[in-house]
Amino acid sequence: MCGIVGAVGHKQCSDVLLDALKRLEYRGYDSSGIVTIHDSAIALKRAVGKLVNLDLALKETPLLGDIGIGHTRWATHGGVSNENAHPHVASGRVAIVHNGIIENHRTIRARLEAAGHQFSSDTDSEVLAHLFVEAFDAGLDPAMATRQVLDEIDGAYAFAVMAIDHPDLLIVARNASPLALGIGDDACYIGSDAIALSHLTRKVVYLKDHDYALVRADGVSVYQADGTPVNREAVIVAASPGLVDKGGYRHYMEKEIHEQPDAIAHSLAAMTNEYGRLTAQMSDEALRSIDGIVMVAAGTSHYATQIARYWIESLARVPVACEVASEFHYRQPATAPYNTAIAISQSGESLDTLMAMRHAAVCGLQTIGLVNVPSSTIAREADFVLPTRAGPEIGVASTKAFTAQLTVLLCFAVALARAKGQIDEARAEAIHAEIQALPSLVGKALGLFDAIRPVAHQLSQAKSALYLGRGALYPLAMEGALKLKELSYIHAEGFASGEMKHGPIALIEEDLPVVALLAADAVMAKASSNLREASARGGKIILLSEARAAAEVDYASAVITVPDVDPLLAPILIAIPAQILAYLTAVEKGTDVDQPRNLAKSVTVE
Ligand code: M6R
Repeated sequence: MCGIVGAVGHKQCSDVLLDALKRLEYRGYDSSGIVTIHDSAIALKRAVGKLVNLDLALKETPLLGDIGIGHTRWATHGGVSNENAHPHVASGRVAIVHNGIIENHRTIRARLEAAGHQFSSDTDSEVLAHLFVEAFDAGLDPAMATRQVLDEIDGAYAFAVMAIDHPDLLIVARNASPLALGIGDDACYIGSDAIALSHLTRKVVYLKDHDYALVRADGVSVYQADGTPVNREAVIVAASPGLVDKGGYRHYMEKEIHEQPDAIAHSLAAMTNEYGRLTAQMSDEALRSIDGIVMVAAGTSHYATQIARYWIESLARVPVACEVASEFHYRQPATAPYNTAIAISQSGESLDTLMAMRHAAVCGLQTIGLVNVPSSTIAREADFVLPTRAGPEIGVASTKAFTAQLTVLLCFAVALARAKGQIDEARAEAIHAEIQALPSLVGKALGLFDAIRPVAHQLSQAKSALYLGRGALYPLAMEGALKLKELSYIHAEGFASGEMKHGPIALIEEDLPVVALLAADAVMAKASSNLREASARGGKIILLSEARAAAEVDYASAVITVPDVDPLLAPILIAIPAQILAYLTAVEKGTDVDQPRNLAKSVTVE
């Protein structure tokens, strides 16, 4: 995820900005840049690759000035290049850095280009710089200009703006992407998190979604979306914050749930080649040689494999077996027709999964590691690597790593299907477009916390709960149940809805919570009648569903809806309310959300 830093009132600030960017390296990046104002002019340095390249460029020609902003970029819109690296400057007067996605950037860009604005990058972010130029040209002051810009843009963002016309302030705003303001003695700072600022100040103000602020050397003025000034209390952060901070959220898990639009967008970017097509990080020839896939993983990663099986088999017509890693390792599997193993692991260090991947290699299978930690053992030992770019996941309960895994697996399925001639370019592009829309839909689903809170309150009273799903939502039912049990210690089981009548329906009794997952897919009608049977026997149906599927249901006691989406993507989108439900239930119960009892983040024993 991109990193943002800034300083105002700090003598020759480019050095401290570079230090701040170094502290954000853990988020991952492919290019970086810093811009300052000096002698009434904007001075910019950008570099592709590691920060050492920016450092060298700054040593050659230092940037002077007491106000500046900096950025580490992970490409989403536009390839990795100097031109696409942030900061972006418009008309030599306004510089911006941005984290997130401006969803309506095409429309805005077309309007601005028609009005004579000249763009110099392929990014969505550059529209921000031009929008501020336009607003200042219209005579608006910084606060009014910001409101006008915020009114026009859609999407997730944290951004900072610096303008020649207002050389004593930084303008910042956030919605769904983190941003912290640091209050120093004679200077103020901004950073994607408090860690970026830990060498400068421990006094931090966290903006809330839709806030914007004017940051000057002597303090900050924060406003809510409607322009009302608001007091966001400063907090004193730990002297040496850990590797990652909570960004003002109560728990790492809550923060990581909110990071999913970014995690998905960056993982999609990692699976997109320089021509804008989905890629599986291997040649078409290598893809065509895949006859069958064994997927090995544990826990949440195992449920991701089970969802991916529906995609890979239906799109690419390649047989897939999903194996619990700890079981596969000690079996003597008959591997035909499988010639490829995919080991899926957030950490890349789960010993069960590593051993299963090694076992697959011994059995003669080529190996693909799908990991979130690029330096991990699985990444180093696999023949090929598929990266998720979710950034560090600290909460023991996996959230953003899961939806990032699903994103990468769906991209892989599409690339495999196209290489094998099972789908044509038009279908591949149509699915690609659906995946591109996903960060925004997930952003909308993140607005469900308040709707889910009373449901979580009820669920926290239960001793046991069932999760039901059909088709690709069946593995998601098991994942939802895992989230609930590991976080709130409530017994929960996930079943295939159609399997209920073969036994588990005996468990249904008056008021037993049944969390039902439903999408408008080919099995909706059958899934719905399975749920009706559970309801008729006293089960209390909590429906997590697409809006149009929910419209068919009249038997639920609580209905939580996500936006309508292509059925292929429904498991990714419906995962969001399932995570929020488990999170809020755990908060109600007062359990240790980030470190549930008996659990480790990375299980490196067998
Ligand atoms: O790092 P990994 O993906 O290999 O971890 C696998 C499981 O240990 C992990 O997904 C675990 O089930 C989580 N606590 C689930 O939230």
